[in-house]
This record gives sequence, structure tokens and C-alpha cells, in this order.
Amino acid sequence: MSSDIDELRRELDIVDVVSDYIHLERAGTNFKANCPFHPDRTPSFYVSPSRQIFKCFGCGVGGDAIKFVSLYENISYVEAAKQLARRYGIKLRIKEDSGEKGKIHELLEKVAEFYHSKLRENREALDYLRGRGIEGSTIRKFMLGFAPQSRELVELLKKEGGLEIYEKTGNITRVDEDRFRDLFRGRLVIPIRDQRGRFVGFGGRLLKGEGPKYINSPESEVFKKRELLFGLYEGLSYLRDLRSAVLVEGYFDVISLHQEGFRNAVATLGTSFGKEHAQVLSKFVERVYLLFDGDEAGRKAMRLATPHLLSAGVEVYPVFLPEGMDPHDFVIKEGKKALRSIIESSLDVFELLIERVKKGEKVEEAIRDFTYFASFMKDEIRSFTLISELSKLTKIPLEVLSSKVYRKREAVPEEEENRLSFTERIFLKGLFELRPEVDLDQLNLSHRARELAERILREEYYEVPEDILNLKTTDLEEEFGAALERLRIDIPKEELEAAGLRESVREIIRSHRGGIKPSALKRWRGGS
Ligand code: UTP
Ligand code: MN
Repeated sequence: MSSDIDELRRELDIVDVVSDYIHLERAGTNFKANCPFHPDRTPSFYVSPSRQIFKCFGCGVGGDAIKFVSLYENISYVEAAKQLARRYGIKLRIKEDSGEKGKIHELLEKVAEFYHSKLRENREALDYLRGRGIEGSTIRKFMLGFAPQSRELVELLKKEGGLEIYEKTGNITRVDEDRFRDLFRGRLVIPIRDQRGRFVGFGGRLLKGEGPKYINSPESEVFKKRELLFGLYEGLSYLRDLRSAVLVEGYFDVISLHQEGFRNAVATLGTSFGKEHAQVLSKFVERVYLLFDGDEAGRKAMRLATPHLLSAGVEVYPVFLPEGMDPHDFVIKEGKKALRSIIESSLDVFELLIERVKKGEKVEEAIRDFTYFASFMKDEIRSFTLISELSKLTKIPLEVLSSKVYRKREAVPEEEENRLSFTERIFLKGLFELRPEVDLDQLNLSHRARELAERILREEYYEVPEDILNLKTTDLEEEFGAALERLRIDIPKEELEAAGLRESVREIIRSHRGGIKPSALKRWRGGS
């Protein structure tokens, strides 16, 4: 594996790679720039073409081209290598991801390519896309496809030796002994990639005949609708540069918006926008424009998405489209200039409500919405400032308004939720490094800690904050044992100590360096 990455490294030119992300200026034989990894006013970031490395003399980061991409994109080194190989058309053989999940991603990619090649042969589907204003380059960028009758796909999967594995995605179903049905057959197919560019599933749009307008891949180990956003991978560098995203409702909205230059457009996959989506976006952007359909359902969806974004610390800018139009219709009919102008003239949700109060439009509703939304704000100082402003404007006493905000905050303790105790951090670090089998239900974990623990168990390490993984410990095994003890639900610490269990926990952990045997832990859990 490493020799392959070595080869890739030799083929890459670090100046090329880094220039794709930031502007480099020549400085003698080297290049310099403001460091993208820390606030940097004087260029302290250097790239050396002769040594093929970068180094920041301000914050100390440094490494090769792959490391740069991995830091910038917030992905693993191997993932960065793969991404670069893809970008520069270099063949890279990496045998990691050899597990079943990796195989599924690989198969999904093959299937996406297959559908894509079939679209070229399908006049009807191509005409449909042309009729909706979708250009060839957009079709290629999103790898849009068409799913023919199932037989050919099944042949392909057999040839790849992946029929059984692929069946687990639910994208094909066995109808009898040797017959399968492709969930998407006869449909226009939209491949969906995760944040790291791996193929995870499909959306399929009906072109003619009966049936639901869209069918999506079923939820599975690789297809998690609660976290996935369509368009995120394709637009990631734009989201990051602009520090904003445009949230829309439909696949076609994302596709046409990207085509018209709004490359930070993303959409959920037919589910409502939730907390996980907000957390994902908050890693890249400070502001989200809500560009939902101009109908009742669109306004409702906006109301539902806003609290999640605010509690993730993201500013929300609702953008209103004319009644009965969706972003796709709007940009195709009115053009990108018109869309740009309504987006740019949109107001932050709080300013919007203030304007409504000033204009005397549905004042009470606006005030209620204001305090409701303010109760989700992450930044309490800002929420207090906003409430004071509203109080001045409406003459409603500050105490009345802030008591509403405060009550809600207690009901939805987003703040607390994200703060991990030291014990929880040790526990998570141990879970990650020692890889014990633990039953999370037996532990008294905050919502956030539980979520992270589940991620670690699902091996989604990239979702786990680095400060936890880098937590300094002197004797992790011992500290982990003690943390487990403190987090146990039912037995009070005194009792554990009285029973001499503290020592036995350590014993168990010590005797299984590198992994506690499930049986051992169960024995401990059983308290005998
Ligand atoms: P829309 O009907 O607004 O989708 O539903 P769209 O992408 O704008 O479709 P066009 O413009 O008519 O082609 C919004 C989203 O809801 C999900 C899909 O993700 C869709 O993009 N959806 C919709 C489904 O999952 N199933 C459906 O039957 C309909
Ligand atoms: Mn639509």
C-alpha cells in the first residue's frame, strides 16, 4: 500500500496541488502564502518545489502534497491520496477499505459508471434533461445516469463478484433463485456521494408511467440519509471558500443551481433537514441560505430547518421565491442574475422578523417566532443582544422576552449537549484506542457523548473531534477503566469500590492490551 502512495507522491507536484486551494506567490525558489490553517496576516506558509513539501513557520504544520489536502479537506491521508489520484487521473492501488464496506463503495461506483454510460444511449432520458435545461457538462459532473432493465446490471455485478454484497444495499432485490430487480430500472439516476466522494447510493426519478416521482436507496450501513447532503461533495470547496451554503429541497434544484454557478447548493435526500445535517454543514460554513419552494410546504420546511442550524451555530437567511416556484424553475426562467440578487438581498432570520415587526405584519407571530428561534442560538450573548433589540422596538419588557428564551433553552439543552465531561472524553478516547466491546446502554452518557461513541463503534473516526483523539493521558487503560466505572448507570461508585471491582476492572483491561475481550467485559458488567 505504501509503495503505491510513494509512487503517487512522485507523480504529484505540490505547487500544482496547493495552488488549487490557495493563491501562491513566488519567493525566490520557493512559494509563499497566508497560511490556510491559522489566522495569518503575514505570509508564513511556504511551499518548496525542490523538496516537495509545505511548511508554515507560524503554526508549524507541514508535510507533503497529500498531507496538505488531508488537512485542508479534513479527511484522512489515505482518503486524500485517493482523491488526488482521481483528480490527476493517476491509478492508485490501495488495498485498505478491503472490508465489505469498501467493497460496497467500489461496487456503487461501478454501478454509477454503468448507469452513466447507459444514459448516453438513451435518447428519451437525454431529451428529458435537455428539456429541463441541464447541459452535458452538468450531466458529466453529477454522473447522471439511466437504469435499463435489470439483466445487464446483474451481469456486471456477477462479473465483479459482488452480487451478494451489492444486494445488501437494497438497491437490487432478489425476486427468485436467479432473478433480481433493480430498484431504479427505467428511471433517471442521480448518484449520491458522501462528503469524501465515496459513492453511497442513488436517487431515481420517474421519467414516464406510474409510480412515485423519486425512489431513493434504502437506508443502510453506507447510506445514511440523516447525515448525507446531495451536492456537498461536488460543492465542498465552494462551501468552504464562501463560508456559506444554499440549502434547497430537490435533486434538480441542486443540479441546476450548480450549473448556474451556485456551487454551494445542497439538499437533503428526501428527508427533512435535521440536526445531523446541520452539524455537517456547520463544519464548513457560517451561513446558510434557505431556498425552499415558494409554497406552504416550503415555508414549513424552513421553520423546521432553522432551529437545527441555529443550534449548530450557523446563521440562517431565509430566501423567498415567488409562490409556486422552486429554485430550479426560478433559475431556469429568471436567470442567475435574478437569483443572485434575491439571495444577496435576503436578511438574516432575526433581521427579517424585526422588519416584519416594524412593518406591522403579523406582529405577534413575528415576536413569537423571534423568541422561539433565539432560544436555539448557540451564542448566548448574541441572543441576548437580539432580544434586547426586540424589546426596545416592541416595548415588551426584556424580562418577558428573555424568560421565554430561557425556558426554551432548558427544554432543548443544545448547549449542554455538546459539552463533554472529562470522564466522557477519556471514555471516548479509550473506546477509540483500546477498542473494547462495550454496551453503551449500560452507561450514563450525555447525548453528544453517546453519539460520538456510536460513531467510533461504526468506525466513522473522521466525525470524532480531534481534541478527543489527541487527549493527553498517562495511563489510558487505567483511566479508561476508571471512566467506565464512573459512567456506569446502576451501581454507585462506593459499592463498586466496596466490592473491590475497581481493581478487577484494571485487571481486565491490563490483561487484554489492545482490546478487552467481550466476555471479560461482560463478566465485569455482570458484577461478578
Ligand atoms: P421535489 O418534488 O421538489 O423534487 O421533491 P425535485 O428534485 O424538485 O423534482 P423535479 O424538479 O420535479 O424533478 C424534493 C425532494 O424530495 C424527495 C427528493 O429528494 C426530491 O428531490 N422526494 C420527492 C422523494 O424522495 N420522493 C418523491 O416521491 C418525491
Ligand atoms: Mn422541483
